Amino acid sequence: MAKISRRTIDEIYASMKIEEVVGDFVSLKRQGSGYVGICPFHDDRNPSMHVTPRLGIYKCFVCDAKGNAINFLMEHEKITYPEALEYLAKKYSITIEYDRPETDVEREQRTERESLYLVNEFAEKFFIDQLHNTEEGQLMGMTYFKERGFKDSTIEQFHLGYCPDSWDTFTKEALKQGYQEDFLLKLGLTHKSSNGKLYDFYRGRVIFPIHNVSGKVIGFGGRVLKKDEKTAKYYNSPENEIYHKRETLYDIYLAKKAIRAADNIYLVEGYTDVISMFESGIENVVASSGTSLTEEQIHILSRQSKNITVLYDGDRAGIKASLRGIDLLLNKGMNVKVCLLPDGDDPDSFAKKHRDSEMKEYLEKNTTDFLLFKAQILSEESGNDPVKRAAMVSDMLKSIAGIQDNIVRAFYVKECSRLFNLPEETLNTELKRLVWANMRSAKPSSTTAPVSDSPAQNPFPEINIHSPKQTQTINDKLYEAEKNLVILLLQFGCYEIHVEKDEENLPIRVDQFICDELFNDNIILKSPVIARTFDSYVKSAELLKDQNAIQRALLMSEDDEVRNFVIENLPTEIPEVSPNWENRYEVLISSMHNNVQVLQQEVQNVLMNLKLRVVEDTISYVESQLKLPDLNETDTEMLMGYMCELVQTRKTISSFLNRTVS
Ligand code: CTP
Ligand code: MN
Repeated sequence: MAKISRRTIDEIYASMKIEEVVGDFVSLKRQGSGYVGICPFHDDRNPSMHVTPRLGIYKCFVCDAKGNAINFLMEHEKITYPEALEYLAKKYSITIEYDRPETDVEREQRTERESLYLVNEFAEKFFIDQLHNTEEGQLMGMTYFKERGFKDSTIEQFHLGYCPDSWDTFTKEALKQGYQEDFLLKLGLTHKSSNGKLYDFYRGRVIFPIHNVSGKVIGFGGRVLKKDEKTAKYYNSPENEIYHKRETLYDIYLAKKAIRAADNIYLVEGYTDVISMFESGIENVVASSGTSLTEEQIHILSRQSKNITVLYDGDRAGIKASLRGIDLLLNKGMNVKVCLLPDGDDPDSFAKKHRDSEMKEYLEKNTTDFLLFKAQILSEESGNDPVKRAAMVSDMLKSIAGIQDNIVRAFYVKECSRLFNLPEETLNTELKRLVWANMRSAKPSSTTAPVSDSPAQNPFPEINIHSPKQTQTINDKLYEAEKNLVILLLQFGCYEIHVEKDEENLPIRVDQFICDELFNDNIILKSPVIARTFDSYVKSAELLKDQNAIQRALLMSEDDEVRNFVIENLPTEIPEVSPNWENRYEVLISSMHNNVQVLQQEVQNVLMNLKLRVVEDTISYVESQLKLPDLNETDTEMLMGYMCELVQTRKTISSFLNRTVS
């Protein structure tokens, strides 16, 4: 697909007005310099959503929904980024221009994809026709579906079909109608035998077509009619330009509407599980089709609902293996629940044995929180073995560390502390370390300076579960210091201050000054999101010279985490309409607007504070190195010397800070 040109995107960004875009869906009332309205992203009664035209953003103070106009559309309408652009182009009568004329290769690829869809569409129709309108289809396929208890209406809705049990009935017909052999082979509908003869891959199987989110046929599952040891129960489409197993969710197209209505997704394993639940009246159900959940699938699901309930077969086989995949769901901010079916049942057999109302009731009564479920499974397994128990606690904490909401996290720590009989504080210490580690292992900043051999580069020695609390506190403080620095840049980077240099009092921009200082001291921001925000700031500041323009550019960042960081940390209210006018920080801001002296002071403090935290971080690293058992004398001496320097620096900075604070 040709990309929408930068020029069009810029034009859209320049034209879109957050209050008009949100206003299309939410009734907004003027309040101060902005607007408020009922948030559409949670069950809201009061106007908790604030819309700030000055920054082009919306922000809900209850459910934490936030973003720019594009984000609003993507979230609210569950559409993709290009679709949101198209929506806005239409709204503001902007003609979409594509990047450049399609290259021959691109056109070929596009037309190839289109052709593949057409071939699949033909195949789907063919298989449906075979099922309904041929003797063999009725006798074999329809009988099979009836034996499984599928209703006619279901068979139709799921576009189920049948492929005749002959060598090449389908392939012949497809070729006769002009579909190319190449495409048939690529889609896996047709195979070539070793002597070069073409044959129908799905012959003698009932067909489950697979659709993508927008309802196009991307592939097929074909099931054998009889239990036969010699062949796989299901044949599936091979990977190709339109079928990507990792992105495929069976039934997502039909389930979409019900998922949004219920704001919950039931996740099952197989085609027939989906169909049987659907027949029991539970339509918000999709299948991962026998694989463990992938990131791509989670991404697709999370656009439909953040709540997911995983249904497990009662026999518990594979539960433990699938726990990892579910941790991944938590990491993506999904709320995960699980429901364990009675022993020996899968969703299909359970639905068949029970009335619709019983099924619903069972699901309601037996759905539990995922982490508590996991804790239970792990603790059953580890029994009283202390080594296993320690591993289990650490496994649990890793899951908890993935949760993004602090309050929810705190709840789980409490639960774990109770379940495993460990002090909350111990768990919290370890948890903070893990959260911090997660932040660091996220995408590295693109402009990080080359790694020097300074020990501060690797401040993350393995710390065991009883790590001294002190290490953690330092990391927290370092994070705070980095954050304060970047927030200061966001608000005052373009302002001018005066600094003394070589006995001269020179004017310099705050951002310029800060960059120089960081560079001179070889300081690299460590928290990935903050580092990326810093990078984005620097890039924007090179192009744009105006604080407001830079802020707006960052609020439009395509990096979700950067954008959210900026939204979270920029005051959306202009001081004069703030209800929290008493707030010390805002008073400070307004005085900084008016007073270079105050700003200058604040810049120095924030910088010095960061330096102090970096030094402390390094000290704790050196300390840990000194404790290593196999340290030789030269290394020890070197480290001791380094330590002395660091301690001296810390003293100097501390006294500077004490002086200026008082
Ligand atoms: N699967 C597959 N190939 C197999 C077996 C399973 O691709 N040989 C996938 C299918 O997507 C299937 C899912 O794994 O739907 C779950 O497997 P299973 O529970 O064995 O199949 P069901 O869908 O329950 O099918 P049935 O009830 O007809 O046995
Ligand atoms: Mn089954």
